[in-house]
Formats: sequence, structure tokens, C-alpha cells
Amino acid sequence: MQVKKDELIFIQGQKGDHAYIIEEGQVEIFHKLKNDQESHLAILGQGELFGEMALIDTNIRSASARALSDCRLLVIEKNQLIEKLDASDSVVQLMMRILLRRLRQQNQSNTGIHLEDTAIQQHGLSAVDKLRFESQINTAFQNREFQIYHQPIHDLAHNKLIGSEALIRWESPSQGLISPGYFVDVLENSSMIVPVGYWIFEECFMHFKQIREKAPANFTVSINVSGRQFAHHDFLPTLKALLIKHGVKAENFKLEITERILMEGGAIIDVLNQCRDIGFEISLDDFGTGFSSLQYLAQMPINYIKIDRSFVMNVLKDERTRAIIRSIVFLASQLNVKVISEGIESEAEASVMYGLGSDYGQGYLYSKPIPLPQFLKDLEG
Ligand code: C2E
Ligand code: CMP
Ligand code: CA
Ligand code: CA
Repeated sequence: MQVKKDELIFIQGQKGDHAYIIEEGQVEIFHKLKNDQESHLAILGQGELFGEMALIDTNIRSASARALSDCRLLVIEKNQLIEKLDASDSVVQLMMRILLRRLRQQNQSNTGIHLEDTAIQQHGLSAVDKLRFESQINTAFQNREFQIYHQPIHDLAHNKLIGSEALIRWESPSQGLISPGYFVDVLENSSMIVPVGYWIFEECFMHFKQIREKAPANFTVSINVSGRQFAHHDFLPTLKALLIKHGVKAENFKLEITERILMEGGAIIDVLNQCRDIGFEISLDDFGTGFSSLQYLAQMPINYIKIDRSFVMNVLKDERTRAIIRSIVFLASQLNVKVISEGIESEAEASVMYGLGSDYGQGYLYSKPIPLPQFLKDLEG
């Protein structure tokens, strides 16, 4: 869009549907004061963005804009900005709106223009809830309300126990047992996952020492690890130090990852390789549920693929699901990795999954995830 020198682009108090990037020329931002005088705020030049505030908080223009010279402007549609904003973290959205409100309040005392204050109320609640929930999780961690449960993993050919998956639980004194579906996402999207993640490793290492007294040889504990943990700069040295501290070997543990860890960047593959080098086995969790290409399979140094429960639950009734499972098993054999099936709830599912080529199985058929004392007792009995 072309604007002539001295032309007004918009006036404070108007509704706004567009923001602008200056491709050429200069734009003055100013306030009209109560006495009709103008108060100069800023001169913007090439490459700068303006007119964004009214789009972000769906309020009126906070100031007027005028071309100081002939200008060429790139028009940005409201949706372009709003989509980005909506996709961002709700706490970031809240902070942005709070900052905007403060800026507007400052402007308001200059201009006397009254603003409708709806945006923060509309958008603020869930973000404040999220912040509150994060604090509650942090407090729960400090108060030692988290526990590690174990769910057995069986060798399908011999129906023998070969390991367990460690699954976190929140035993809240006020709300009872809270399953990770409610809080793991919040944990993984905050830096809390780093200390909590190391705590999970330590718990698993200590549990393993008790389990190995009673368990078959070669028993392994599988530990869920998120991308943010691998990305922590001190991850490998800390992990090695913890192995030594607890006197356990990496060979007795599998790390369960999902393809989402690649969102932390390609360097994660290096860390994974080093984990393998020190003896950890790697399982690719929730296989078949993500969105990325199969290319990542070639890059990831994995030993196991875990077929997601959503396939297993349909295996008896749906031929197409069985066809997909057959091809996953074929893919796994070509990559020289073993297959673990998740969410096996019946003997029938176990035998069909075995028939389709799955090596191992895990699910309510064998046991729900249970606290360590009960797991140890089941090993005896
Ligand atoms: P996941 O890693 O895919 O874990 C398997 C989930 O399936 C567990 O849910 C388990 O209880 C459930 N499950 C196992 N067998 C059956 C079955 O036969 N039927 C049904 N209906 N469900 C079954 P859970 O424990 O609620 O964990 C949910 C997710 O939370 C896990 O999914 C994992 O992504 C995450 N998570 C759990 N513990 C940890 C942890 O220590 N660290 C991290 N980073 N994530 C964890
Ligand atoms: P908006 O409120 O949509 O319309 C006026 C625009 O002027 C505003 O978005 C910002 O892009 C810009 N603006 C408002 N206040 C200032 C300021 N103090 N300094 C620089 N630019 C401003
Ligand atoms: Ca898992
Ligand atoms: Ca899984």
C-alpha cells in the first residue's frame, strides 16, 4: 500500500484490523491530547512494525499514525498475527496482554481515552490457572508427593517377566491419586522436568536394586525421558554421576523416548547415541501416533519400538489395524529392533499380537502400574 507524505494511516480511538510493516519511508506515531495538541511518541522507519496493539488486545488504536514521507507499507492481516498469538503458550499470551494494558493505561492518562478492559479477563483465566497448577506441582514435588509405580513387561513367547516400565504418580493428600495425564504435559513444558527427571532416575535406580534381588536375570526398568531432559546441558554427566552414586549399570535400564524429542533439535540424536554408548537401551514410545516422517527412524539409535495401545485395542476386530501392525513388525525386523506392544488387556490380544510378531507385551492383562512394595511382593508370589 502506498501512502503520501502527511497522510494519516489511522487515528487513535479507531478500531483496527491491520498492522503494517514499513517497506519504505518513515511513519510518525503521535497522540492527540485533550487540548487538541499533538504529542510525539516515535518515528519509525524501514522494517518496523506498527498498528499491532489493537490486533493483539482487540482494543482501539492507542495512537495515531501519519506518513512523514511518501511510504510503501506492507499490510498484515489481523488473522496472521492472531494465529501466531493463539499458538503461543497461554502464559506468554497473558504476560503480553498485561504489558499492553500497562502501556495503554499510561497512554490513557495522556489522552483521556477510555479503554474497554475485556481482553485480559477473556484470556487470562486459563493462563493464571496454568501458572497456579505449575506452582502446585512444584510444591507437590518439594513435599515428596510423587511416587514411581511399576508396570510389568512380559516376553510373549514364554510368558515371562522381563522388565517393568516406571510410571510417575502424584499421591495428593487432598485429591488422592492423580494420574500423569493431568500433569506430565505441564511438567514437560516447564523447566521443572529437569529436577523432577533426575529424581525419577534416582528413584528408578534405587528401586532397581531392590527389584533385582527377586527378579529374573536381565530384568530392566524402562524410564520415560522427555526432550527437555535430554536438552539439559548437564544431562549426560549428571546421569553418569547418578549411576555411580547408586552403584547401578546403564545396561539394566531402557530409556523411553517419543519422536517429539526431535523438537528439541538435531543435537538430541548425539545425546541419544551417547546414552547408547554408555549402555542404555532406547525404546521408541507411542509408535504410530505422531506426525513426523519415517525419516527420524533412520536417525534414531533405537533398540525397541513400542506399538501404541490405540492399535492393540483394535487388533481383534479390525483387519486394517492388523495390516498396519504387520508392517510395523516388518519395519522393526528390517531395522533390527524388537517390538513391545502396549495396553494388552486380554489373553486374546496377547496371542494375536504374538502371532503378528510382537516380542513383548505390557498391559492390564499382566498388571496395572503398582507401587514398588506391591511389585516386589508380586515377584515373590
Ligand atoms: P506411556 O509412556 O505411553 O505409558 C503407558 C500408559 O498406558 C500408562 O499411563 C499406563 O498406565 C497405561 N496403560 C498400560 N497398560 C494399559 C492397559 O492395558 N490399558 C489401559 N487403558 N492403559 C494402560 P499413565 O501411567 O497414566 O501414563 C501416561 C503417560 O504419562 C505415559 O504414557 C507417559 O507419556 C507419561 N509419563 C508417565 N510417567 C512418566 C515419567 O516418569 N516421566 C515422563 N517424562 N513421562 C511420564
Ligand atoms: P495500535 O494501538 O494498533 O495503533 C497505534 C500504534 O502505534 C500501536 O498499535 C503501536 O504499533 C504504535 N505505538 C503505540 N504507542 C507507542 C509508543 N509509545 N512508541 C512507539 N510506538 C507506539
Ligand atoms: Ca512409556
Ligand atoms: Ca506409550
